[in-house]
Amino acid sequence: MSERHDRIVQRLTAAARQAMQQALGVDADPDVRETSDPRFGDYQINGVLPLAKSLKKNPRELANQVLGALDTGGMCLAPEIAGPGFINLRLDPAWVAAEVARRTTDTARMGLGPAEQPQSVVIDFSSPNVAKRMHVGHLRSTIIGDALARTLRFLGHRVVGDNHIGDWGTQFGILIWAWKHHADPANLEADPIGELERLYKLGSEQAKGDPAIAEATRAELARLQQGDADNLALWHRFVAISRAEAERIYHRLGVAFDTWHGESFYNDALPGVVEELKAKGLARQSQGAMAVFFPEETGMAEQPFLVQKSDGAFLYSTTDIATLQHRREAYQPDRIIYVVDVRQSLHFKQLFTTARMLGMDAVDLEHVGFGMMLGADGRPFKTREGGTITLEALLDEAEERVLPIVREKWPNASDAEQREIASAVGIGAVKYADLSQNLATDYKFEWDKLLAFDGNTGPYLLYTLVRTRAILRENEARFGEAFVPSGEPLTLVMDQEKELAKELLRFGDVLDRVGRLSRPHMLCEYLFGLARKTNPFYAACPVLRAETDALRRSRLTLCAATAQTLAIGLSCLNIPTVERM
Ligand code: ARG
Repeated sequence: MSERHDRIVQRLTAAARQAMQQALGVDADPDVRETSDPRFGDYQINGVLPLAKSLKKNPRELANQVLGALDTGGMCLAPEIAGPGFINLRLDPAWVAAEVARRTTDTARMGLGPAEQPQSVVIDFSSPNVAKRMHVGHLRSTIIGDALARTLRFLGHRVVGDNHIGDWGTQFGILIWAWKHHADPANLEADPIGELERLYKLGSEQAKGDPAIAEATRAELARLQQGDADNLALWHRFVAISRAEAERIYHRLGVAFDTWHGESFYNDALPGVVEELKAKGLARQSQGAMAVFFPEETGMAEQPFLVQKSDGAFLYSTTDIATLQHRREAYQPDRIIYVVDVRQSLHFKQLFTTARMLGMDAVDLEHVGFGMMLGADGRPFKTREGGTITLEALLDEAEERVLPIVREKWPNASDAEQREIASAVGIGAVKYADLSQNLATDYKFEWDKLLAFDGNTGPYLLYTLVRTRAILRENEARFGEAFVPSGEPLTLVMDQEKELAKELLRFGDVLDRVGRLSRPHMLCEYLFGLARKTNPFYAACPVLRAETDALRRSRLTLCAATAQTLAIGLSCLNIPTVERM
């Protein structure tokens, strides 16, 4: 049995598995879970029931045998059998008191060690397209991908965050042509990305209306692809403008990448991809184009994966296959996560199936698809005039909405300080609203809800953190020295503090689950639940005025543990914290 105590479900699973092996001679999944109803204890072993069914044995009898062999290493009180054959486990209060205290001495990690099997993980996220301003649709990929990257890093995995920008393709023929005929140098100076957007729009409109212009844009594209120096220089310039624009926004969001291998990075590899697919008999000609065909059992027999058009051009799909090959060689990943709009599901299903057909079985490929951000009216999020809202405008609005509240609550702070807090709270609130949603569903973006200081919001969590830290500071002011958690076991008197202590101990399991399932909203839910448990605790348990010194230190330890847990959780989500609020 593993000796680690920092993941309770994991540890109880190991203990229960061993007990089943010993008592019943079978290796089966004990299915250990946190209970949803406290009457059934804190944790449950549910795996005996299905096992009894398959062995055609009496489940309660089997449960009894498992119970006899179960050794929780002092974590739990004597287990009980419930219902048809569940085993209920209750944490031993003495163990809880010692374990919380032990973890709290580790300020930076709350006693949480790395995952048992550190992996190499590539996360493909954000990935906007060149020559367009980032809009709110890119917000989700950026924020979710960043939160996953940070959580996985905290768990000890090696993570490569890659911004797979769309920096190649037909749009450049149009853009180059429009540039050569309509560029406005003054506007380029004043609003570079705006000028690119204007040119692109103008170019595509004119190409649509005039076949000769359409032909000319294609010729520009062909010249770019053949390496024409002028066109290449223009292309470089466009990419640089877009990148500078994107970097500004990443900076505001506090997001960074390890690599920016855009689509163009793979250009030279594309002919080889198609050759390999042909040689392996996976791709064949179809109406002049080249496509990968899937067997019946994939359910995609009618949906071939186009990898080369009849005019010889390669596609998004071809690039993604090349990207996969590159990542395999460069990082030997155990797992690759694509954080991309759920509307690209078919593309990824095709890509992953192709990868398996090419023999890439060793790597877990995962599409983390997310839904759309909707306005309060339930329709796609738009400006009042009906245009798409840029990410920049959204972040500006978040800050503007928070600033007056900060000014009112904290009139004596300097303007710079007020702005800094407003920015952290506002941007944090936007991020939290996004991360706390169930991923695949569309969600409504409502300013009043996400900025509220109560409910499952960023501001509420920040407020709870600030309030908790304030108690620690006040203790220092009153007793003349900073509180340092000593590891001395807690004194748990009231139910409210027992509840809080047990909730704190769930953190390791939650983080593991978030990392394993790529579901940041589970971390949000946990942090929200933890924050909510502090209210009854503060109401029922005086901290600074506790009856004894030992009780005060114990409650201060709970405050420190709560603050540390919230801070680590928010840092995994990359929500900036503030000192006052
Ligand atoms: N640039 C693409 C888009 O905006 C997203 C790219 C996602 N990553 C990938 N490897 N396909 O739709």
